[in-house]
Amino acid sequence: MERVTLGRTGLSVSVAGLGCGGHSRLGQSYGHSFEQSVSVVRAAMEAGVNFFDTAASYRTEDIVGAAVRSCRDQVVISSKLGVVRPGTDHLGQDYLSGADFVKLVDKNLQRLGTDYIDIFHLHGVMPDQYEYCASELVPALLKLREQGKIRFLGLTERFIYDTRHDMLQRALKDACWDVVMTGFNLLNPSARRRVFAETQAGNVGTLVMFAVRRALSNPQAAREIVNELVRRDEIAEGSIDHSDPLGFLCRPGVAGSVVEAAYRFCRHEPGAHVVLTGTGSLSHLTENLASIVSPPLPAEVTQKLQDIFGSVDSVSGN
Ligand SMILES: NC(=O)c1ccc[n+]([C@@H]2O[C@H](COP(=O)([O-])OP(=O)(O)OC[C@H]3O[C@@H](n4cnc5c(N)ncnc54)[C@H](OP(=O)(O)O)[C@@H]3O)[C@@H](O)[C@H]2O)c1
Repeated sequence: MERVTLGRTGLSVSVAGLGCGGHSRLGQSYGHSFEQSVSVVRAAMEAGVNFFDTAASYRTEDIVGAAVRSCRDQVVISSKLGVVRPGTDHLGQDYLSGADFVKLVDKNLQRLGTDYIDIFHLHGVMPDQYEYCASELVPALLKLREQGKIRFLGLTERFIYDTRHDMLQRALKDACWDVVMTGFNLLNPSARRRVFAETQAGNVGTLVMFAVRRALSNPQAAREIVNELVRRDEIAEGSIDHSDPLGFLCRPGVAGSVVEAAYRFCRHEPGAHVVLTGTGSLSHLTENLASIVSPPLPAEVTQKLQDIFGSVDSVSGN
């Protein structure tokens, strides 16, 4: 598995990271036992993955902790905490105080069974929540870093609602972020101009989520989204085959499946350091890691994707 340097953190990370949240949550969302999910994390490690992304709200921190216990210093753990009080509206403004935030991170550490978290993110921050985060929660993160409980400051957007990256565009004007996580996929590549341009300039570590999600792992969902984009005049009617809009990706010499094409598309995007793949399935894991280490899509296919979807910024693919 190829490694890259995660921007200014200097961490050496695998180009594929295991996402332990999303719809699968390592299979916890569809009935996996604790041990089955641990085995997904271990299989990823055996395949050379050293980057694991989890969060308080995913309820998979204990699984990641158990899987990496014997090799903690060989992996990079990314975890998160939301910015509103647990149990309140996650889009609302009932914010955690800095002091409460610092206390709650001890619980992330306990669940992970570690005394430090490599990258700690404010989780799913909305544009109207950012100023509070900058003034009240960044000092809390800096305190945690001073205490040695976290190593680097991270920030993730709420891509389902913030498909135009308004929050990250504001946040990247501040110098405090070592790592950000952004939504990026072949249906909505707007992070290219709104996020990656800035992260590359600031040498900020960049993690990609939503490479596949539901839209690109389910042909019916892809058809509905693409046809909706045509109805809204966001893509040109004549540019696609309505019954099989992404069929051109699954041709000999291009890719074996839309999922494969979707991961390769993200992996070779300049500025994207780690592409997260979220799965509870060992066979999907094997396929996805093979896709992420495969060569770029042919140039004419990337150009066709750019011609069709290059200006789309209204969907997440959720
Ligand atoms: N705001 C945030 O901070 C935020 C939000 C969302 C996600 N994230 C992070 O980003 C990670 C990646 O996002 P994601 O989990 O949505 O990942 P993803 O890799 O874009 O999509 C995963 C979805 O696709 C399915 N899938 C995966 N491989 C497949 C294959 N080969 N064939 C068919 N279906 C396949 C998975 O189901 P199976 O289990 O059946 O494989 C799952 O439902 C998350 O796990 C989480 O760590 C962060």
